[in-house]
Amino acid sequence: MRRLVRSALGHLPSRLRLPLMRFALKGQTVLEHTADMRRSIALSSTPEVGFGRDLRPHSRDTQLIKDYHRIEKGLAMPAPKRPFGSALEHRIDGLLDPASMDDDLVRNVTSARAALSRWNDEGVVDEEIAPLGPELRALDREAVEAFVFSRHSVRNFDRSRPVPHEILDHAAELAMTSPSVCNRRAGRIHLYCEDELVEHILRLQRGNMGFGQTVGQLAVVTVNSTLFAGAGERNQKWIDGALVAMSFVWALHAHGVGACMLNWSKSNAMSARLREVADIPVREDIICVIALGYPAAGYRVARSPRRPTAETIRHHD
Ligand SMILES: Cc1cc2nc3c(=O)[nH]c(=O)nc-3n(C[C@H](O)[C@H](O)[C@H](O)COP(=O)(O)O)c2cc1C
Repeated sequence: MRRLVRSALGHLPSRLRLPLMRFALKGQTVLEHTADMRRSIALSSTPEVGFGRDLRPHSRDTQLIKDYHRIEKGLAMPAPKRPFGSALEHRIDGLLDPASMDDDLVRNVTSARAALSRWNDEGVVDEEIAPLGPELRALDREAVEAFVFSRHSVRNFDRSRPVPHEILDHAAELAMTSPSVCNRRAGRIHLYCEDELVEHILRLQRGNMGFGQTVGQLAVVTVNSTLFAGAGERNQKWIDGALVAMSFVWALHAHGVGACMLNWSKSNAMSARLREVADIPVREDIICVIALGYPAAGYRVARSPRRPTAETIRHHD
């Protein structure tokens, strides 16, 4: 369809072609935003004004995660209020349905609910729900700088040396410690090592021309969009997903594995295509693709100059 429009426009004189092209591009932007909105409304959970047994399972689970985490946060405050959380208790009791819920979620909710009662009844903070934080020790500054400044996007990989699954799993596990809104933990990492599939995903992505042939392993970072609720959280998934992607790249770097984030600046139709090709559930939105692997001997990196810190950092003392 796009090709047809472009070829039709190509036959027009430039005084007509340019305004029509501009109009077509604007129209495409409006259509994509509309599709984003419809998808977001269809997938996002019901905000907490409505709760009860009539909530759809993903809305109920999202609400329960928010609520048990409110208890955890409440008990980690410097001076927790006492009593607190009567609305939380009431809502948790109304929503909890162990028979239709994931075991981990049931455990997290029931343990937080019990900790809340214990705090309110006895004034004792539960050690499991709000443990003492670890002592924070500064690392050696030079070592930190050596680690951080040695990360560059890698665009030349050694395909003869695939990264073992165990390392990918460890990096993904570390990435999942990323902060997430109200501990929703919506980020997902899909890993691909099979040649044909990797090539297919790279063909769809397109931003890897010139080095895609060196890529033998890929990740697609996504978010489960059903874990976000209501208007206020409409953009939250992109933030939570991007944090997971960045942490994953840092964790790979810690293992000596190179990576290059690859944009997924695509239409909704292309995202649907990638979901189909890469076996990604419909409820997940795509954050980015990540090419990864051990760098080839003698690989080069792009200079990618940074903006001066005076331009990017502002102290508001
Ligand atoms: C979300 C995102 C998408 C990117 N997409 C591409 C891409 O499609 N192709 C590519 O070669 N590099 C891509 N990059 C890499 C950037 O060009 C690179 O991070 C930037 O120039 C800074 O360089 P550095 O990563 O080496 O520090 C992407 C980076 C990000 C964060």
